[in-house]
Amino acid sequence: MKPISLNRALIILMMKMTIYSTIIAFSVYYLTTWVAVKYYGRVSADNDLSMTGFDWFQFVIINLLSLIVSTLATIKLSRKIIHPLLTLADASRKISSGELSARAVSESVYIKETTELISDFNSMAQRLEHTSGEIKTWNAAIAHELRTPVTILHGRLQGLSDGVFFPDEKLYKNLLKQVEGLARIIEDLRTISLAESGYLSIKADRVNIKTEIACVIEAILPALTSKSIRPVTRLDNISVLCDPVRIRQAILAILDNVTRYAQPGIVLISSFEKNDCVIITVEDEGKGVEGELQQTLFEPFRRAEDSRSREYGGSGLGLAVVNAILRAHGGNVAYFKSELGGAGFRIELPTK
Ligand SMILES: Nc1ncnc2c1ncn2[C@@H]1O[C@H](COP(=O)(O)OP(=O)(O)OP(=O)(O)O)[C@@H](O)[C@H]1O
Ligand SMILES: [Mg+2]
Repeated sequence: MKPISLNRALIILMMKMTIYSTIIAFSVYYLTTWVAVKYYGRVSADNDLSMTGFDWFQFVIINLLSLIVSTLATIKLSRKIIHPLLTLADASRKISSGELSARAVSESVYIKETTELISDFNSMAQRLEHTSGEIKTWNAAIAHELRTPVTILHGRLQGLSDGVFFPDEKLYKNLLKQVEGLARIIEDLRTISLAESGYLSIKADRVNIKTEIACVIEAILPALTSKSIRPVTRLDNISVLCDPVRIRQAILAILDNVTRYAQPGIVLISSFEKNDCVIITVEDEGKGVEGELQQTLFEPFRRAEDSRSREYGGSGLGLAVVNAILRAHGGNVAYFKSELGGAGFRIELPTK
């Protein structure tokens, strides 16, 4: 049954009650008059306006029946309104006491407003439960990612203070690497959180995207070369209003993944303009991203479970940062299967 608005339900109720009262008045009047005429002869004299005992009898019966009918109809309607509200109150009580899976369930779908209220309440509860679950996962993932470098730092420093390790360049470099790893995780988390709350600051400047991409390629070239990956570029000169530091950071994160997860061969980097946007694509000849990971690739802490990812030990924040940066620019990033056989990333960035 399609729910109707409370306003309409009340009007319908009033109309029904008027109709029922009229039907009752006519039926009782004619029935009792018919019985009185049939069994007792005339019931009142013509042109006599005074109420006889019989008139009073009819009057009382009609009003009594009308009263009963209107009371029953009102109770029925109020139940349809109150029942959903009671289930709503019950669900809110459970949620406020921590039972986030509680939902308001009402079989009464007669009133549109209460039906909508229940549906909105349930989607709010669902979102709350989802967010709470995400916070727990985030906390666990952050703790997990921070634990490894902190444990290594703790072990090394403990060894130094106990005289088990001797301070040498190699040890200090290792300690520095752990601290840099920690700093990167913290900075990535900060970027993602700022972007999610809409506070990621963008220092916009007009730049030539070809120059920016070339600058990133130059920085990552030694890492690419060491993995026998050769960059091939098809870059158009496009003027873009963006935060160049952030955009370079995003392209670097994608190319950093190429150095870790792609196989020897080429990485094709192109940029061209389309509908007031610059499109930047990065394609490699690796295995690409398989299965369900494609859907959640840009969420924090998502990584392939295979040994390659673990071997290269990323924390799963790189692409979430890329996504955060692009969204803060009003753009987006997406994954596609490259014709080269590996992963393809497509950045869309507004030029103005
Ligand atoms: N070019 C690629 N080819 C194959 N898989 C990729 C590629 N880029 C990313 N991935 C997969 O996506 C996952 C998420 O990448 P992301 O950059 O977000 O995290 P990460 O590289 O594991 O860690 P981080 O970048 O924080 O050090 C990777 O772990 C990897 O499984
Ligand atoms: Mg990465």
